[in-house]
Amino acid sequence: MDKKRGSFSNKMGFVLAAAGSAVGLGNLWRFPYLAAKYGGGIFLLVYLILAVTLGFTLMITEIAIGRKTGLSAVGAFKALDKRFKFVGYLACVVPFVITPYYCVIGGWVIKYFVTFLTGDVAAAAGDEYFNGFISQTASPVFWFALYVIITAVVVIFGVEKGIEKASRIMMPLLVVLIVGVSVFCITRPGAMEGVKYYLLPDFSKFSATTVLAAMGQLFYSMSLAMGIMITYGSYMKKDCNLEKSVRQIEIFDTAIAFLAGLMIIPSVFVFSGGDEAALGKGPSLMFVTLPKVFEDMTLGGVIGTVFFLLVLFAALTSSISLLETNVSIIRDKLGWSRKKATITVTIYVLVLGAIVSLGFGPLSFIKIIGLGLLDFFDFLSNSVLMPIVAILTCICIGHFIGSKVVSDEVELNGAFKFKKFYNIMLKWIAPICLILILVFAVSEAMGWITV
Ligand code: PFF
Repeated sequence: MDKKRGSFSNKMGFVLAAAGSAVGLGNLWRFPYLAAKYGGGIFLLVYLILAVTLGFTLMITEIAIGRKTGLSAVGAFKALDKRFKFVGYLACVVPFVITPYYCVIGGWVIKYFVTFLTGDVAAAAGDEYFNGFISQTASPVFWFALYVIITAVVVIFGVEKGIEKASRIMMPLLVVLIVGVSVFCITRPGAMEGVKYYLLPDFSKFSATTVLAAMGQLFYSMSLAMGIMITYGSYMKKDCNLEKSVRQIEIFDTAIAFLAGLMIIPSVFVFSGGDEAALGKGPSLMFVTLPKVFEDMTLGGVIGTVFFLLVLFAALTSSISLLETNVSIIRDKLGWSRKKATITVTIYVLVLGAIVSLGFGPLSFIKIIGLGLLDFFDFLSNSVLMPIVAILTCICIGHFIGSKVVSDEVELNGAFKFKKFYNIMLKWIAPICLILILVFAVSEAMGWITV
C-alpha cells in the first residue's frame, strides 16, 4: 500500500485480495470456538442475520468511501468532512491492538505444523499438550517471534506477487481439506449430537452477549470497522461492480467460517463423549480437538501436516495485510521510509506480543477486568473499539455526510438493488442496535449488571 495507488488488475482480483485478507484465523480458529461457547445454532443464526444486514451495510459503506476518495481511513473521513477525521484515527488504532496477539496464535500454528511434520501426532493429541506448550516461557515466544519475522520479511521485501499466485492454489486446497475433514468428523459415532448443537438454534441460550460476540466476530472476520476495507476500496477500479463484490466477499468469508465450525464442533462432541463443558474451552479449541481427529484418521499425520500448513498460510496472508496496514498508517503520518516504519512496527509487535504470550505462563497472574492478556486485547478490539468505530461510521455517513456519497458510488455500476434497505440500516437500525448491544454487553463484562 504505497503512496502511489495501484489498482487491482481485474474484477476478480479485488474480490480475491479482499478475501485473502478476510479469510484467516478469524474464520478457522475464532469462529468455531465462539460458536461452541455461545450456544452453537443460536450463535450461527445471529451471525448469519448480522452478516446480511450489518455486515453488508458496513462493508459497502467502507469500500464505497474508499473508492470515492481514493484514500485510506484518515484521509477518506477528512476528505468527506474535516470534523470526522477522528473516526479515521480511531479505526487505525484497531490493527495495532490486533496484530500482536494475532501473531501469538500464528506462532502456535507454526508449532503445530512442525509437530505434525516431525511425526509427533500422538503427543499433539495428548490432553495436556497444548496447555503444557503455551504455559512455557521460551518456546511459545520463540515460535511467535518466528511468525512475526516471516510476516515482516514479506512486508519489507514485498513478495505479494508470489503470495497471490500461491493463494490461488492454497485457498482452494484449504477448502477441499476442510470439507474432507468435516465429512470425516461428522461421520464419527456421536458426532450427530454436535451437528445438531451447531445447526439447530436453542433460543434459551440467546442473550445480549451472544449478539455482541457475533458482531465482534463479524467485524473481525470481514476486516470491518478498522479502516482496512476503506483502503481496499481505494484500490478498486471504478468499473468493478461494488454491490456484487461485497456480496461475493461476504459469502466466501462466511462459507469458510461455517465449514470450520462444522469441522470442529462435532469433533468436540466425539472426543469429549458429549460433555458440553468441553465446548467452552475458548482459544484452545482448534489446537486441542483437531489433533485428536487427525490421530484417529488413516494418514492423519500427513493430513494434519498439510492442514496446519494451509492454516498457517491463511493466517500469514491476513497478518501480512495487518502489518502492512500498520506500516502504511505510520508512513502516512510520519513520512518514514518503508524499512524504518516496518522495523519500528515489528519491534512493537514483538514486545507486546511476547507479553501476551507470557500471559499464559509466567505472567498468568495478570488479569484485566477478569480476563487474561490475550482475551483482554481480543475483547478491547472486537467488543469495544470496533463497535464504536462502526457506530461512528454509521452516524457520520448516515446523518452528517449523507448516504448519497455511498449510493452514488455504488450506482456508478448500475442500480443499487438494496438502496432503501441500506439507507434505513445505516441511519437508524444499525447505530441504535449497535449502541444498545455495546452498552449492555460492556456493562455485563464490567460486572455492572448481571443477565
Ligand atoms: N479478517 C482476518 C481473519 O478473519 O483472520 C483478520 C484480519 C486480517 C483483520 C487482516 C484485519 C486485517 F487487516
